[in-house]
Amino acid sequence: MRNRMVDNRATARAHANIAVAKYWGKRSEALNLPFVDSIAFNVEKLTTETTAVWVSQDEQDVLSINNYQVPPHRMARMVRVLDEIRRLRGWPKRCVLTSHNAFPHSAGLASSASGGAACALAAATAAGLDLTQKQLSALARLGSGSAARSIPPGWTRWYAGQADDGSDSYAVTIAPPEHWPLHVFVVQVSNIPKSVSSSDGMRLSQSSPFWKTYLETASHAADHAQNAILHRDFRTFAEVMHESAMQLHALTMSAKPPLCYFAPQSIEVLQYVLRQCRTVPVCCTLDAGANIVLLCEASAASFVKNDITAMDLPFIQTRIGEGAMII
Ligand code: DP6
Repeated sequence: MRNRMVDNRATARAHANIAVAKYWGKRSEALNLPFVDSIAFNVEKLTTETTAVWVSQDEQDVLSINNYQVPPHRMARMVRVLDEIRRLRGWPKRCVLTSHNAFPHSAGLASSASGGAACALAAATAAGLDLTQKQLSALARLGSGSAARSIPPGWTRWYAGQADDGSDSYAVTIAPPEHWPLHVFVVQVSNIPKSVSSSDGMRLSQSSPFWKTYLETASHAADHAQNAILHRDFRTFAEVMHESAMQLHALTMSAKPPLCYFAPQSIEVLQYVLRQCRTVPVCCTLDAGANIVLLCEASAASFVKNDITAMDLPFIQTRIGEGAMII
């Protein structure tokens, strides 16, 4: 890592990512360190672009998302990223971050991942830091855990790691986007921001009587998902994806008090997929929100598209995406 000449400004683009084997639960809240490894893919059309400008230490850190200025008390996570850059760079400057999402903000479409990754890359580059991909991934993780997986391209694995300082908890590419060019349908069941954040949902889930069992099972999910992806084994891939998503939602629904992220139309799409997946190469997942993401083999894409169109819900058809980049 070294410093290079800069004009204190940089713009980065990152893609949202969707987990096949989920991150749910933290061994450290301060550093967003997960209990288990997770596997995800970047989503080509779900992007965030962020410009970072370092300014004098007399000013404030500022973050705006889609022209809305985030209030200071909601900036703590992004300030962790900026503090780490200030530490590495050895300067007291403040940073102005201006972000634009090409999709609804906080609607279960993982904007915290693309946003966190774009902010970390833009701010580190604008500060003149020349970080490796692993270092950038660990930096992005400080803002939002899943942002770690939006730094490397394609299909990714985020290692939970063991170190207390999180230095071994970063994401790497396990296969490039073209390795398995599945079709992705992001079905927008709702564009209303979720009422309970992922962090709060994770904390609450630990009150579920199934939490311990979940941790034991979830620790194997990443290996199974990675093997299925490397062998392009759709049947196993679908099994792992459904198991991981359903376990997450079973935890929230069995927590005290219970929490349900689904909307009625999430169930409608879910039931459609669970019915079809016995004969058609299609599967789906839901994160901490009502929206649902379908994946299918190219051979099934027009069939699946027709059926989703008939449900009369807005959707984005896209592919596996690249990693974060300076633009
Ligand atoms: C359900 O990364 O949003 O999407 O680390 O608190 O920012 P924080 O949580 P976040 O959680 C994502 C949870 C998930 C599953 C996943 O992406 O693996």
